[in-house]
Amino acid sequence: MLKIGIIGCGAIGREHINRLTRLIPDAEVVGCTDYYLETAKKTAVQYGIRTVYKTGEDLIADSEVEAVMITSSDPSHATYVLEAVRLGKQVFCEKPLAQTTADCEKIIAEEVRHNKPLVQVGFMRRYDPGYMEMKRIIDSGSLGAPLMIHACHRNVFQPEGFQTEMGITNVAIHELDICRWLLRDEYKNAQVLKVRQSSRSTKGYDNPQIVLLETENGSRIDIELQVADGYGYDIQCQVVCEKGTINLPDPNSVIKRADATCSVQLLTDWADRFTTAYDIELQDWVNCAGEGRPTGPTSWDGYVACAAADALNRSRGTGKFLAVEMIEKPALYS
Ligand code: NAI
Repeated sequence: MLKIGIIGCGAIGREHINRLTRLIPDAEVVGCTDYYLETAKKTAVQYGIRTVYKTGEDLIADSEVEAVMITSSDPSHATYVLEAVRLGKQVFCEKPLAQTTADCEKIIAEEVRHNKPLVQVGFMRRYDPGYMEMKRIIDSGSLGAPLMIHACHRNVFQPEGFQTEMGITNVAIHELDICRWLLRDEYKNAQVLKVRQSSRSTKGYDNPQIVLLETENGSRIDIELQVADGYGYDIQCQVVCEKGTINLPDPNSVIKRADATCSVQLLTDWADRFTTAYDIELQDWVNCAGEGRPTGPTSWDGYVACAAADALNRSRGTGKFLAVEMIEKPALYS
């Protein structure tokens, strides 16, 4: 039984607590905390969690907590991850791992000091059956080399306080991970473009943005990013290979025929779109972290996505591709 403490009882924190308590037999959520203590207390009552900690640091320090799940807001991730790793605990951190490459590097250095990976980053698309099948086909070599990826990430809306840069660090970060995972390749150059803006962009942030990436092997990636599309949560990905193309399937949906129309309902929420991926992801983390050997996306993967996001955000308005700058990969992550 893996004894888990959760920091952050917001939307995905409660989603994950629900999974861990109801679906995953080898997990026990022993404690939780939130910046708003009342939120943590309510969550604890709802899910029968015995300890509410005043701070994330208190939760991490308690020897009762074997593994720490970090589902608090983006700017808080790095400090909690670093502290948990310092104490040698298993960590699941929702994306992004950190907001700066410098913070990612500190986490990596601490794992290297322990000489073992302790962190799994919440890039759950790697567990989505559609993306997994795409990867299986690419890896089989049956379609030849992958040449390019066309992807879309379209959201219905974003909460107050959302900023242009977060389109990359918080939203497109999923594509930054999944594209290099699909291609088994690394990023060389990156550029973000501001294109014709939607009239739905009334909150001061760019919408849409186009992300362009070039990999070490010369593959090209374009990602259309919308954070206020006005119609649904729509994730698309097409990999173009030498002998064919592979498309991410849309989620299963009933086909309705009525009023001389044939229609399929679209989802509006990330939680519904990737339910299966989250289920598999957390089961895998509990199994592997419980044995002290997490096998999912590592701190290095979190770092690469952060480095690419950095280059993208630096490129905005320059009209230039910028190099994705990274440290040498420690042998630990090979
Ligand atoms: P949310 O705003 O609903 O919840 C965040 C919670 O963290 C709030 O209850 C807030 O009070 C708490 N919090 C903020 N700062 C804190 C701190 N320093 N210490 C303790 N608690 C703190 O946000 P949501 O949607 O649950 O997102 C949380 C994290 O999960 C974000 O980093 C987000 O990027 C990530 N996420 C990942 C998804 C995925 O597909 N993998 C989907 C949704 C969110």
